[in-house]
Amino acid sequence: KIIIMKVALITGISGQDGSYLAELLLDKGYKVHGIKRRASSLNTQRIDHLYQDPHHPNQRLKLHYGDLSDAMNLTRIIQETQPDEIYNLGAMSHVKVSFDTPEYVGNVDGLGTLRILEAVRILGLEKKTRIYQASTSELYGGIPENKNESGFYDEFSPFYPRSPYGVAKIYGFWITKNYREAYNMFACNGILFNHESPRRGETFVTRKITRAVSKIALGLQDKFYLGNLDAQRDWGHAKDYVRMMWMILQADQPEDWVIATGVTTKVREFVRLAFGEVGIELEFKGDGVEEKAYIKVCNHKDYQLEIGKEVLSVDPTYFRPTEVDLLIGDPSKAKKKLGWVPEHDLKFLVKDMMESDLRLMKKDVILLKAGHKILKQAE
Ligand code: NAP
Ligand code: GDD
Repeated sequence: KIIIMKVALITGISGQDGSYLAELLLDKGYKVHGIKRRASSLNTQRIDHLYQDPHHPNQRLKLHYGDLSDAMNLTRIIQETQPDEIYNLGAMSHVKVSFDTPEYVGNVDGLGTLRILEAVRILGLEKKTRIYQASTSELYGGIPENKNESGFYDEFSPFYPRSPYGVAKIYGFWITKNYREAYNMFACNGILFNHESPRRGETFVTRKITRAVSKIALGLQDKFYLGNLDAQRDWGHAKDYVRMMWMILQADQPEDWVIATGVTTKVREFVRLAFGEVGIELEFKGDGVEEKAYIKVCNHKDYQLEIGKEVLSVDPTYFRPTEVDLLIGDPSKAKKKLGWVPEHDLKFLVKDMMESDLRLMKKDVILLKAGHKILKQAE
């Protein structure tokens, strides 16, 4: 009996989503190719556990050096790997940083998508290769009047991006839709709302919070700084969202899909929940840039911090020139048509991230005791 193994190619395999997706696809029996960038230090920590022995005959994960700014490289990799599915997750994905590197972001996040689509077309793989494009809730820009009647963003809500990242991603969205319509390609957008995990990049707000709270609880850091505490996000767990990426490419028809939880939460509340995991209740005082958080109650036997201690201030450095104030999505279509059911809620997400970061920071306590200097605070 011949078993036909599906082949997937993932750009951005070393990122949060790429690593969970690679795990999922390997579990499903795929041969997985990933594109990684050449860097002066190792950047594959999130997938090293999947890639222990590249010489093993059963190794089904193969990494290729490449970059979304390099069309020849992408075309060659697609030609060599002949993928059944491409997941284009590679991107400069930090919204605030995109204001500092707008041309680069346009090239990689916008034109990079075109390079993938065009390579598939040039190679005559339109019928064989299905393409997932990592679109984003940043496309909506949080404009209140663009929500639907029930108060959510859905597949019909107008876009109004508010950052160079969002503007680049809107090109990626439309070029994917255009290639689907123009060349009959199975090319789909997943419009994903924020999703987090213990593998989230250290400078996104949730991970910055869980890292800082863990360090404060363990006595490694006194306080930390955030920007806009009033911003609201629809936060889900990355594991649920990568499952949906795969489901999108298994659907009967190529379409665009909103993936979200339908619940929105303020950054300030996320901070409270994270401190709650180490038995600490906070009191917030002051307004705007003067707002600060202090320890009000501390009743965990392992984490004894002084009542009244200041643990959080606002630093305007983290404000964005244009902000997306509130995001909340309606995933009804994905639930109804594809049967997607998220398995994790916000409470679980915070717990998962806090447990992981506490474990990580406890290693720093050991290093500190051994006389080493410890990590700087992430920005
Ligand atoms: P991430 O952790 O920042 O990972 C991004 C990946 O892209 C990394 O592997 C990175 O490589 C790679 N990359 C960056 N620049 C590249 C380039 N020039 N060429 C090739 N690869 C490049 O992002 P994520 O959270 O996993 O998100 C995955 C995708 O979904 C991104 O496109 C993001 O914009 C989009 N998205 C994310 C969310 C979310 O909440 N997480 C929501 C909606 C959409 P290095 O490891 O070398 O940096
Ligand atoms: N990063 C960061 N750092 N954000 C902060 C901070 C801080 O110190 N303080 C407040 N925030 C606010 C931001 O202003 C924003 O309103 C919110 O927290 C979330 O910021 P991020 O975690 O950086 O994520 P994002 O929503 O801007 O973008 C993420 O989600 C998008 C989907 O909506 C990224 O993953 C994007 O790639 C993704 O497309």
